[in-house]
Parts: sequence; C-alpha cells; structure tokens
Amino acid sequence: NELLLQVKEFAISSKEELENYRLQFVSKKGAIGELFEELKKLSKEEKQKVGKTLNELKQLAEARFSEWQEKLESSASKATLDIDFTLPPVPEKLGNQHPLTLTRNRIIEIFERLGFSVADGPEIEDDWHNFSALNFPENHPAREMQDTFFVEKKGQNGAEQDLLLRTHTSNVQVRLMKDQKPPIRAIMPGRVYRNEAISARAHCFFHQVEGLYVDKNVGFADLKQTLYHFAKEMYGQDTKIRFRPSFFPFTEPSAEIDISCLICKGKGCNVCKYSGWVEIAGSGMVHPNVLKNCGIDPEEYTGFAFGMGIERITMLRYQVNDLRLYSENDLRFLRQFSTVV
Ligand code: PHE
Repeated sequence: NELLLQVKEFAISSKEELENYRLQFVSKKGAIGELFEELKKLSKEEKQKVGKTLNELKQLAEARFSEWQEKLESSASKATLDIDFTLPPVPEKLGNQHPLTLTRNRIIEIFERLGFSVADGPEIEDDWHNFSALNFPENHPAREMQDTFFVEKKGQNGAEQDLLLRTHTSNVQVRLMKDQKPPIRAIMPGRVYRNEAISARAHCFFHQVEGLYVDKNVGFADLKQTLYHFAKEMYGQDTKIRFRPSFFPFTEPSAEIDISCLICKGKGCNVCKYSGWVEIAGSGMVHPNVLKNCGIDPEEYTGFAFGMGIERITMLRYQVNDLRLYSENDLRFLRQFSTVV
C-alpha cells in the first residue's frame, strides 16, 4: 500500500523526472521488480494472493508511465511547432554560375540573335568525325597538331574501334552537315581534350564554341562581319578585329582571329605579350573536301566555320590570369562572379 501511494504521488513534470520514475518503479530492477523477485520465495497460495495485488500495482505504474510519456512528448513537439510564420525568411544562399558558364551563355545569346541555333555532339568520338571527315589525311602529321587522348580500342565482339576524346568541337560540324540539309547555321559549345602539360596557359581539357554557316553564296565577308559583330557585342563597340592567315586542314582559306587587347588598349601588357592583340579564334571557309565527305555538293554550297576557346574569352572578359582557376573549385574565386551576368 505504501508503494501504491508512492507510485501515485511521485511528482512528474519533466523528462528527467519521468526517467527517475521509470527507474524506481517500472524497470525490472525497480521497487516493484524487486517484489516480484521475492514473490518466488513464497508458497503457492501466498503467491496467488500477493501476485494479484503486485500485478495490479505493476499495471498502474506502467499506465502512469506511458500517460506521462505521451504528455511530455506532445508538449515537446508543440514547442518545435511554435514558429512565428510572420517573420521574414532567412534568405538561402544560392550557388553562383561558373564564369565559363556565364561566358558560354553570353556567346550563345549573341549568336542566337544572328539566327544561329545551338547544337552539341559526343565528347568520346571516333577518328572519322574528329579527323578524317575534316580532311586530316591518314597518318599525316597534321593530326599531331592536336595532342590526342586515344581511348582503348576494344569494341563489341572484338571489333576494333578508333575512339578518342575529341580534340575540338569541329566533330559536331561534321555531324550537323551529315544530318541536315543547308542552310545550316549553328553554334556548338562543348568540352574538348588535349594531352598537354597543365600550366597557367594550357590545360588537358578546355571548352570551345564551334560556329558553322553553310548556304548558297556564303563568302569570307560573311565570316568577317559575323565575327566583327561578335567581338563588339562581347567586348564593347571600340573593339578592333584582325585576321591573320593560318592553316587548318578543314578550312581554305584559313585565318586566325585577333581582337585588340582590352586590358592595355594597345599600349602593351602581359596579356597580349606587348603586341596589342590577342587571339580568340580559328576560322576559315569550309574546305570543299569536308563538304563532300558530309554529302554536301561544294559546287552548290559554301560555308564558313570558326572555333573559339571559352577559357580565353573568359580570361579577357574578367581578367583572369590563370587557366587553372577555372577547375580548382576555389570558392574565393567562384564567389566573385555572383552578380555578373
Ligand atoms: N578546330 C580548330 C581548333 O581547335 C578551330 C577551328 C574551327 C578552325 C573551325 C577553323 C574552323 O583549333
């Protein structure tokens, strides 16, 4: 009876007190549990009598325990729901766009307004699309202009495959010309790979935007004017542009494109190596052999193509002086681009 009173009057108002209560009464090692142990020593009749009272006591103690457990839990969950919904929210910090993404999007924007669509193609490519179709002769040293990563030649059922990581986005030109009929007017952004030692000025992967325009009567003047327009849109109306004769197997004639150095305005600086000009793209008129390889009649159609490096264009845009910064994921670098569009 005394125990019954204790069970009934034990003060519970917190989780700690509930735990004390449990240890004292509910647990097997508690006061009631002990009595059950002693019960074993009694005679049969006594066992029945005392056992009944003990069981009642035990049930009462357990009922009170679960009642309080519930009470305390529901008041705890009530406390966490006690939020003032009228308070202004804490703004969530969104990530920034990568500077290369910002530049790529800007390039796309400029060319889309000229009527170029956007296309893409595979980064793991076969030899034909990356080289042969583009008029690189078999075993010709021109293939070594671009230090290629070759992919192990193991095809299904032992067939040999000439796979490689594309060295330029020009493979997509080939795919477009094979799949579509002129007029074709597209830009093709993407990642490319070359086996080069990593330094401030070179990396084993980087990004290009390829451009292609094939139609009747496309001439070199169209190429010039398109890229001149691009340079002014990208870097400002004062930007000058210059074409230097060059060589690519897939264009004839070929030209490298320089823009006037924005950093020193022609006075001479590290970026332009004191020449006042920086190279931004390779370009030219699509070689008749390339058109033929892709099933387009060079007598009927002509075209121009260009390929520019997104890293280089971003360097000039934001005055970044080390290519490696783009892929190191240093937040101090990346966070600087949050507000630039
Ligand atoms: N594919 C060339 C390169 O990676 C660039 C280029 C593209 C040149 C299209 C001419 C025409 O260097």
